[in-house]
Amino acid sequence: MPCAALGALFKMENNNSSTHSVRLMKEKDIPQVSMIENDAFPNLFPPTSFRKELQRPISTLMVAISQLNPHKHQGISNNRTTERNIQVSSYRSGNTGWKPGMEFLTGFIFLWKMSTEETHVMSIGTRRSHRRKGIGELLLHSAIAKSIHEKVNSFTLEVRVSNTPAIALYEKYELTHRGSRKSYYTDNHEDASIMTVDNLQSADYRLLMKKNLLLLLKRLKN
Ligand SMILES: CC(C)(COP(=O)(O)OP(=O)(O)OC[C@H]1O[C@@H](n2cnc3c(N)ncnc32)[C@H](O)[C@@H]1OP(=O)(O)O)[C@@H](O)C(=O)NCCC(=O)NCCS
Repeated sequence: MPCAALGALFKMENNNSSTHSVRLMKEKDIPQVSMIENDAFPNLFPPTSFRKELQRPISTLMVAISQLNPHKHQGISNNRTTERNIQVSSYRSGNTGWKPGMEFLTGFIFLWKMSTEETHVMSIGTRRSHRRKGIGELLLHSAIAKSIHEKVNSFTLEVRVSNTPAIALYEKYELTHRGSRKSYYTDNHEDASIMTVDNLQSADYRLLMKKNLLLLLKRLKN
């Protein structure tokens, strides 16, 4: 199944009643994804050059879309956003990157395919206003499903040792601690935990994916 079909598949399996879907990121999404990154990683410097990443052959970027009317999302500003003013206006000043006429994006996941054997998660983030609704899991599930489809065995990432929400999410998909990178994060010298799952192609893992998807679909309908 090509990756582009993932969002469609997700909607289909969800009987078209889901309020969320996933698709590959497009250039027009850059303002919103940049603001979501700014919201999820306020200390990140420099910010990711999503324009560059969209061109890089090893990169995959996926976005989650809410089907709800964006005007109904609380705290949504329709400030006009251009790439130029992304640098000077922050999420915390009310700039969400969304403007009328756009789909409303709620999160993103950014992957690098390191080899035919390994997918590395560079980043995943959801809007603070949309956390604990299953969106982060939807993105992670879609990314792992894509790796399984591409015959990749191993899915890996680094996470701050204090990042309990993210670690809980990864553990749900059987990523386990495999080692540390000391003082990996330059802002506070926090250690990173390297988390990996490397049996993506096994029948057991496919079963876990199926079970988690069923639970996730139920959750996203609510
Ligand atoms: C990590 C992050 C992407 C999770 O996104 P989310 O949309 O809130 O997550 P979901 O609602 O899909 O939650 C899925 C699972 O993650 C775990 N989880 C998420 N938030 C949690 C929290 N605050 N406390 C404990 N577990 C949490 C749970 O296992 C949850 O499953 P459950 O609800 O069945 O218990 C989001 O918190 C985020 O963007 N954080 C800031 C950026 C970041 O730290 N990214 C990870 C860098 S490695």
